[in-house]
Amino acid sequence: MKILLIGCGFVGERAADLFHAAGHEVFGITHSLESAARLSAQKPWKVLACNIASAADVSDLRKQIGAIDAFIHCASSSKGGAEMYQAVYVDGMKHLLASFPEAWPLYTSSTSVYPQIDGSTVDETSPAEPPKETGRLLREAENLALNHQGAVARLAGIYGAGRSFLLKNLLEGSSGIEINEGAPEGRLINQIHADDAASALVHLLTQKLTGIYNVVDDAKMTQHDCLLKLAALFNLPAPGIKPPDAARKRGWTHKHVCNGKLRATGWSPQFPDYFSALQDDPDLVSSILSLVTDTEEQPLHRAENIILIGLMGSGKSTVGRIVAHKLGFQFVDTDHLITDQARCSIPDIFAREGEASFRRRESAVLRQLLGRKHTVIATGGGIITQPVNLPLLKHLGFITWLEASTELLARRTASNNDRPLLRGEEPPIVKLHRLIQERAPIYKSVADLRILTDELTQQESAYGVAESARLFFSKRQSSV
Ligand code: S3P
Repeated sequence: MKILLIGCGFVGERAADLFHAAGHEVFGITHSLESAARLSAQKPWKVLACNIASAADVSDLRKQIGAIDAFIHCASSSKGGAEMYQAVYVDGMKHLLASFPEAWPLYTSSTSVYPQIDGSTVDETSPAEPPKETGRLLREAENLALNHQGAVARLAGIYGAGRSFLLKNLLEGSSGIEINEGAPEGRLINQIHADDAASALVHLLTQKLTGIYNVVDDAKMTQHDCLLKLAALFNLPAPGIKPPDAARKRGWTHKHVCNGKLRATGWSPQFPDYFSALQDDPDLVSSILSLVTDTEEQPLHRAENIILIGLMGSGKSTVGRIVAHKLGFQFVDTDHLITDQARCSIPDIFAREGEASFRRRESAVLRQLLGRKHTVIATGGGIITQPVNLPLLKHLGFITWLEASTELLARRTASNNDRPLLRGEEPPIVKLHRLIQERAPIYKSVADLRILTDELTQQESAYGVAESARLFFSKRQSSV
């Protein structure tokens, strides 16, 4: 099919990628020449600039690309108000329908068109008469698509790698739980992962499913429960209560939006709820942590754990156990968590699945450690090779790099055979030397403390780690 995607934002870009991967001819439309140039340098599909608020621009676009099979209007009004909604949504839709009358239209709307504030469950047959002008304009644009036998996707609050206001605001300390008489337990929130929103658009278009569909995950969750659970997961104090924000662009509502109609057509979300996405999306948590400011005045919150990094044989497990004992902390070793879950040894994982799969398992284990406190975490020597792990390690605790000379590492690792990276063609000492060269800059960049262990007993190293960690956490507590 020849498909036009108007708006290559958070969801549009993902949908264009999916259509392209499925073999369709995709034209992505952005509002400016600069964004078109930027995107077309990154994407295998065609990108063009067009201001859909202008009838002349859209008619030029038609001349340029000819007839198409379908289009998806998923442009955003940016931060604009009613005027922008009129121009981009209503006028934009009219222009597209006029210039591409042969095309099957899909309009992406929002679950904010349901104004319910009574905590009820709403489906596509529920009243959708939003009180705000912006909401009414969304409905008008929806009707244009429906009158052309097209579809409307009502998207819930979108989050994904690089964007989650819930988590970002919580980490930055600006969250508040909204409670009022109508919603004493807190209001219900409705969310959808951007990958699932994109897969829903692809599903609707490829099946040509006409009518209105809610695009939302499976969870029924209040903002209150969500924030408390998130706070526990990130070792943060529970946010306070605040009155509802009447100025919210999406309007203040309290309702559970049901995805039953879309699910009944065969679509299902990859991330059924926000918390499974935090665990299962390899990039989500890390991408949000890296958006959060970490300055001296406003330091990133660090969980009260101790993390040991360093090459194989640097003593992470042995020193880690001693530190845990000294402080009355628990001890975990990421390699052991991996082998427990995989039910096979590290050399077997490397042999059967390859190193990339081992690294995915290692990152997943790190995400599972969210919410831990008072734990010493010994990590595999290569954990720092995956950039996605670095923000997580930083958040998870106080990081100590245990250093040792190549000779000592070679001696310590000589007697056991469970390190596949040292079993290759290269002599272990040469390989270890190369790994030090590659990894030392990364260990250095994330470590809060660096201990050269050659001249120390393991007890002495452990003493250094424990006392430095104590000092680190006592200072941070007084600074917050
Ligand atoms: C590795 C180190 C090992 C283990 C795997 C890969 C590495 O952990 O995760 O064999 O890349 O350095 P240890 O550092 O605990 O030996």
